[in-house]
Amino acid sequence: MRAIVSIAGLTKRYATGGDALKRIDLDIREGEIFALLGPNGAGKTTLINIVCGIVTPTSGRVLVDGHDIVRDYRAARSRIGLVPQELVTEAFETVRAAASFSRGLFGHAPDPRHVEKVLRDLSLWDRRNDIMMTLSGGMKRRVMIAKALSHEPRILFLDEPTAGVDVELRRDMWGLVRRLRDQGVTIILTTHYIDEAEEMADRIGVINHGELILVEDKARLMKKLGKRQLTLNLQEPLAAIPTELGEWSLALNANGHELEFTFDAVEEHTGIPALLRKLEQLGINYRDLNTKQSSLEEIFVSLVSDRATALQ
Ligand SMILES: Nc1ncnc2c1ncn2[C@@H]1O[C@H](COP(=O)(O)OP(=O)(O)OP(=O)(O)O)[C@@H](O)[C@H]1O
Ligand SMILES: [Mg+2]
Repeated sequence: MRAIVSIAGLTKRYATGGDALKRIDLDIREGEIFALLGPNGAGKTTLINIVCGIVTPTSGRVLVDGHDIVRDYRAARSRIGLVPQELVTEAFETVRAAASFSRGLFGHAPDPRHVEKVLRDLSLWDRRNDIMMTLSGGMKRRVMIAKALSHEPRILFLDEPTAGVDVELRRDMWGLVRRLRDQGVTIILTTHYIDEAEEMADRIGVINHGELILVEDKARLMKKLGKRQLTLNLQEPLAAIPTELGEWSLALNANGHELEFTFDAVEEHTGIPALLRKLEQLGINYRDLNTKQSSLEEIFVSLVSDRATALQ
């Protein structure tokens, strides 16, 4: 699949010092949902703002649909919609005017039908004549999205789209992002919420201290880095883990009723058959057994903390 955004050797050093981005190379594929995951200050907003032409890079190059963001700024920018992390709204503007005005900014002719569709999609149509200052924070965020969508961008950047919004709006937002993707829009979102990346993304990039430490298909990432757990529900509780089981990584839970074995999903030999044989030899019987894949959250925490330890 071709890259719709191509980032090479991108660095950013703010005037106040410190490298916000360290040689980032990243290709975004046309039509994908890409989630950029990272802790506060990792460089997510800086990266997005450079691609959108709001922050100037220190070095490196970015192509948007083949257009250089510096030399060919207007062409690059016209393909992009951005929902910024910080909400910026005109207090006395109406919802409809906000969305319509944004379209004009990108040199598009007015299209009330398109603006209506966008407002309806975001459940804002009933509020179209309300002025911004009378809306709640979540509603304002929807208006920001309406503004970003009003000029029919091919690439949509969502910087923390669901920060501070309620569960229902979050679900709506996810649904909307999927519909946009189905219409062929490429979506790049940043988030702290790992479940959001897990739920939404086709690919995930993890950024920490200005470095892109990993880019991977979500499914492959979960498989590659995922630890799995095998839980055995014991017939009789154990007071302690028998010493004969010392070679397996085991934990005893639920007052000794559950034996939990953690293993690497990618290892060819998990050690499970040998463990089960050993349990039989020891006369430890179980009623049931099940396995669980660890969540992206656990993977992320271990990645970021490994890195932090390595840097110390
Ligand atoms: N305008 C600026 N001037 C100086 N330093 C800045 C500026 N904007 C960001 N930084 C610094 O650059 C680094 C990356 O910030 P950035 O906003 O890109 O992080 P982020 O990943 O978006 O964080 P968050 O999750 O909190 O939104 C931080 O160390 C931040 O303090
Ligand atoms: Mg940010």
